[in-house]
Order: sequence, then structure tokens, then C-alpha cells
Amino acid sequence: MRNYIIIGILLLGVISLNAQDKSNEDMKQKIEDLVSKMTLEEKASLCSGRDDWSTKPIERLDIPWIWVSDGPHGLRRAPATNVPGYGDQLPATCFPTASALAATWDLDLIEKLGVALGEECQAQDVNVLLGPGVNIKRSVLAGRNFEFFSEDPILSGELGAAFINGVQSQGVGTSLKHYVANNVETMRMYNNSDMDIRTLHEIYLRPFEIAVKKAQPWTVMACYNRVQGIYGTESPYILTEVLKNQWGFEGIVISDWFAVVDRVEGIKAGMHIEMPGVSTFNDELIVEAVKNGELEASVLDALVKEILQVVLKAKSLEKEGVELDAQAHHAFARQVAAEAATLLKNDNKVLPITKKKYKKVAIIGEFANNPRFQGNGSSEVKPTQLDKVLDILNQEYGNDFKFTYSQGYSLTDDVDYSMIAEAKEAAAKADIALVFAGLPLHYESEGIDRTHIDLPPSHNKLISEIALVQENSVVVLTNGSAITMPWINEVDGVLETWLGGQAGAGATADVLFGKVNPSGKLAETFPMKLEDTPAFFNFPGEQGEVIYGERIFVGYRYYDEKKMEPLFPFGFGLSYTTFEYSDLTVSAKNIKDTDGLVVTMNIKNTGETKGKEIVQLYVKDEESTLQRPEKELKKFAKIELNPGETKEVSFELNTRDFSYFDGHRALWIAESGAFDILVGASSRDIKLQETIQLQSTQIVPLAYNEYTFFREYWDNKETRELLKAMVPQWIGNFVPEGKSLDDAVFNDFLIDNPIIKLPYVTGGEVDQQGVKDFIEKCKGITYTP
Ligand code: BGC
Repeated sequence: MRNYIIIGILLLGVISLNAQDKSNEDMKQKIEDLVSKMTLEEKASLCSGRDDWSTKPIERLDIPWIWVSDGPHGLRRAPATNVPGYGDQLPATCFPTASALAATWDLDLIEKLGVALGEECQAQDVNVLLGPGVNIKRSVLAGRNFEFFSEDPILSGELGAAFINGVQSQGVGTSLKHYVANNVETMRMYNNSDMDIRTLHEIYLRPFEIAVKKAQPWTVMACYNRVQGIYGTESPYILTEVLKNQWGFEGIVISDWFAVVDRVEGIKAGMHIEMPGVSTFNDELIVEAVKNGELEASVLDALVKEILQVVLKAKSLEKEGVELDAQAHHAFARQVAAEAATLLKNDNKVLPITKKKYKKVAIIGEFANNPRFQGNGSSEVKPTQLDKVLDILNQEYGNDFKFTYSQGYSLTDDVDYSMIAEAKEAAAKADIALVFAGLPLHYESEGIDRTHIDLPPSHNKLISEIALVQENSVVVLTNGSAITMPWINEVDGVLETWLGGQAGAGATADVLFGKVNPSGKLAETFPMKLEDTPAFFNFPGEQGEVIYGERIFVGYRYYDEKKMEPLFPFGFGLSYTTFEYSDLTVSAKNIKDTDGLVVTMNIKNTGETKGKEIVQLYVKDEESTLQRPEKELKKFAKIELNPGETKEVSFELNTRDFSYFDGHRALWIAESGAFDILVGASSRDIKLQETIQLQSTQIVPLAYNEYTFFREYWDNKETRELLKAMVPQWIGNFVPEGKSLDDAVFNDFLIDNPIIKLPYVTGGEVDQQGVKDFIEKCKGITYTP
């Protein structure tokens, strides 16, 4: 019987696969037919939007239009496609912004959030949600940090993939943005993100790569900035070579709003749709370019087919009658915000607030009554409702505790001594003081970078003054990006609640009062001071040039390398319980790069409260040809444990997890040698460690071009002989006494020259052609790293 069931299931699988193939074929045929009937002008017209938020229809051929809308942490849908929708957008659930989402480190939760967002899009007739943003937080000053996940590419990419999978499971597309190296707001329409190819691949492309490969977003949004000198909307390397050819992207590229400069170059590079639609002049240029032969008609046809693919898919997945369940989504938003809350300090177990410990609670700070809950700019959602901490506390905890409220500061930066005096009086009379502080809305905005990372002086002063009169002082922060904390040694507790969305107040209460055990961890380093940060000298750049001088040493990679103490390290966050790490095992101590490695460990809840731990796995390459970070995050997991409970966590590593990107060969390479597997509770709290030996089986080409160094040819047995044969014998005359020809000529004299220098070194005896022939001979020669 069982066998019949299995065969039945298999047959059903085959039938549904066949049905899927058939419908893909039908769709392909339909698109071919449509394109064959389109005029050149109609094809060009599809390559730009109709208005602010929609693509162009072609009524003659029944080609529909679709609706795209911001994003990312909630839906900002304008009343109509041809109005900007700032202030008059339809209400939608405002979830916590990306920095908060990242602090959850919870892929299942983020996928669920994606599902909720997808439902809201279906309810409001939106086909594509413009998000998520997976740009790396390169500088603490970047204005849009609140909208991006992390300083780490793996964490950003995995969260992005989970988000996309959730949204797209609802028949709604996403737009992975802003592709790529969009890390500064100052001069954002012109800036050149100037970095080496290795940094581009290892840090800035990597999150996009993960999200594309794991989730296939329907669209990718090309950035405003230039990358290595070329606009992101015009780069064939970025848009076609990497995105499409290397990663297998199946969707379409849309421009960020007004990001297009040279439309014809954009078409050639693989940039499908220009947004928004402002005029027909670029469509006309496309037509002109095809007519005069500058643009091949087949290139345009290919893009149009891909556009139709997405448009028709979106239309076919529209759902009728989806209602937005505002109450359920509000409750879910509260849950997400609670998972994000990150406990940074909890001396003397000042938190949670319990009846046993405290009766009178002084609530201090304007933000408790007037919440800061999201960032400024295109992502601004009009919430379906907005909770305030003060109301929630009185409603939900008013029977058990006595609350007082003092404003403490106004929304200007100026210190108000009378407000502080009043707050101090209330704090002194209470058993515990909660100071709600953070960054006002205008401090964190799209389009504007920060110039410092301090809280307003009015907040800093208030915190220090309260700490003077109340020994149980806790700072509750709302901000979307790292800040300094000059008062850190004066207070007992710090709870980072990020920009928690419309239900953030309830989540904050849940954590403060112990209904939820905090489990968030930092997805970005908090530095002691701005001057300590990796991009300090190169942010926001000058005259449109942003030099990524810190290269791969972004975030914790930098602080590790400099052996510098941050205020709070990447991956850090406390809990009301404690965890013990033990029994690290690896599947093998000697592996081939192709084998993969399974790493397991046990995590135990050693406290008295149920809690969640975020386990992090870092890899350190002990020795490498290229410079490598001290350690790099490769895997993470969030697990829930009852008091006393132990769970096994297991991770699987593959070749890529041991590799660096060789810029010369444009290849990911995992070199043979020792690697440390580091498992910990944060980047600075490694609990368990094991070393493995990796044996590479990779076949890597030796010669890449005329700049391959003598050293590389010398180190290889085969090419060493060819090299010796090419260099004239008379060079031996210059050998100092006591040295061999090999030592002197190759090891000392020539070794650090690129091969192209040979004609100069040999006075022309080996000429340019000789060098070219030599490179040709070496082309088939490979090595194993
Ligand atoms: C932003 C995008 C946004 C778009 C549409 C741009 O200014 O950079 O993130 O999706 O506007 O509002």
C-alpha cells in the first residue's frame, strides 16, 4: 500500500512538473507572438514607466500594466499611480524598519513578515513591492542605514532572501535594491563608489548574489550612483555579466527613480525599465538608436520579452478580494519588534521590571508619548494605528505599577533645564527610571547623511542627570543606526528598540516587563566614537568620488583587524537568561574543498527563563595569499530554549565559505591550509573553536594577463622553466658573488615585476611580442591554490 502511495505522489509530481513546463512553454509562445506583433515604438515604450508607479500598457495588444510601490518595511501606496503618495498614501501596517528586522537574525520570522507584506500588496492591488534594501552599512553616517539590514554581507543577503521568498509566495514581486554599492546619500545621483573588484564582490555584491540565487526577486532596482566609474543603470558588467550571466537572474532590472542618465547605454547594459515615467524622450532615443544601427533590435527584443514575462506573471497571480487584516498584522508587527529589541546593558539585573522589585516607575522622555517609529523618505508608511509607550503601560500594567510621566526634552536639540529638573524630581521619587531617548526623525533620512552619530544634547544631558538621582536608570533607545553613548557607565540598563514600527511601543513594554525575553543582537557595530569607524576618512567622499579605502574591512572586519574595542560589537545582545555552548564537533578535520563540512554544537539554557539565542559561526583563514579579515560570519541560527533545555545546532559549510575573491582571475578561490571554525555569541565572544585542514582541488589558471607577476610564474614548476628559458643568459653577469643565478635574478631582481616589464629589463632583447608569446604558452597552465 505504502509503495502505491509513494508511486502516486511521484506521478503527481511528474504531472504537475509537466503542467508547469507546459504553461511556461505557453507563456513563452504567447510572448513571442506579442513581440512579433509590436512596432518598434511600442517595444521602446515598454522600457519606461507610464507614471510614478506603473508600467505602460499596450491596449492594442491587450498588454496590461502593473503597479509597483514602496517598500520596504510596509506598503506606501499612493491613491493613484500618477501621484507621488507622500502624505496621502493609503494606510498600511508599518512594520519595524530593516535595522530592527536584522537585529532579529530570524529568517523564518522575516519570511513571515514578507508573507504579511505580500498580503497587504494583494489587498491594495500592488504587484511589486519596492524592497528589500540589502546595501551594506559601510558608514555609521549613511542616511539610509535604518532602511538597510547590516554591515555584513551574509546576514544582509540571507535576510533579503527570506524577505523576498515571503512576499513572492503571495504572488507579489519584489525589487531588490539598490543594486549596487549604494552606501551614501550625499551627491547620491552622481557619486562614484570607487573600489577594487575584490571588495565589490566580497562585500557589496555578495548580499545581492545570495538574495538573487536563493529567492529570484522579480525585479532588481539599479542604483543612483556610479560603480567603478559607470552608472549602475548603465553597467554591462554589473547588470548583465554578473547579475544575469554569473548569478542566473531571471527577472528584470528597473531603475531607481530618476536614476537613468544615458538610456541607450542602459538598454545595451540590460536595464529593462526606466522609472518613473516622465516623458517619451528616452523612448524616442531608443527607437532612434535601433534605426541608426547603434542598438541591435535583438537586444531590445530580448529585454521586452523579459519585461512581458514579469508583467504577465504579475497579472496572472493577482488575487481578488484579499482584505487587509489590520488587527492581526498590528499584533504581528508587535511580535516582530519584540524579537528585534536588543538588550545592550543590564547591570544588577535592573531589567525586567517585576512587581517584586519595583512599584513606582518614572517614565521620562518625549518619545514615550510621541513615538519615533520609522525613517524619513520614500519608505515612510502611513500606519493603520500608532501605539504610544505611555498608553500601553497604563493600559496593560497600570494595575500593578504606578507610572509618572515627564517630558524631559522637547523635539529641538536644546537642553531644557526646567524639563530636566522636573524629570529628576519624578525619577528620584520612583523605584526605577526609564528614559526614552533616541534620534529625532530629521536625524535619519533618505537623501541626507548624518554629520555625527551623537544623540541630541538634550537627550544626553537628561540621561546623565537622571542617573545622578536614580540608581536604577534604564535608557530605552529608538534610532535606526548606531549612536554614541557618553553616559554608558552612568546607567544600569540600555535597551535598543530601533525604529520599531507602529506597534513598537507594545513590544518595548513586553521586553521591559519581561513578557518577552529580549533576543535581538546587533547587526552593526556600535563604535566608541565616529573617528574610530572604518570609512571615517572616506565618507561621504569629495566631488562625487567616494574611495572605499577600507576595502573588505567593513564593520567588525575593521575593528578586529585594528584590535580596537567598539562600544558594542557586531552580533552582541543580552538576554534575561544565560546560555552555555559545548561539544563542538566537525564532520572531518581534513577535508577537500568539495566535501563540505558539517559543524555541530550544543547550546543549553542555563538560566531560569525561557529564551532565544543567536548562535554565530565565523571562519578564520589562518594563512592566505591575499589579505583576509580576522574572521568572517558564515552561518547563524536563532533557537529557543526552555530553562535547562539543550539543543543541538548544526551548520553546513561549503567551498564558498572558505573562499576569497581573486580579482585578477575573477574567481572565488578556497586555498589549501588551516581554517579555524569559531562559534560564538557575538563577534567578540567566541565560545568554541576547532581547526580544520582544507585541501583544494580547484584548478586555477596561472596567467591572467601581461600583469601576472614573475613571482607567480617562478612559484610554478612548469612556468619556472619557461621563464628561465626566456630570460637572456647575460643577466647572469650581474649576479653578485655567492649568489646563484636563480636567487639573484629571479628571487631578488625580477620577482616583483609584472611580466610586461621584461622588454625594459632586458634592454629590448625580449620584445613585446616575446612577452605575448610567453603568456600564450602559459595560458593552459594551471595550479591548485
Ligand atoms: C529611492 C527608492 C524608492 C524610490 C521610489 C527612490 O528615491 O531611492 O528606494 O523605492 O525612490 O520611491
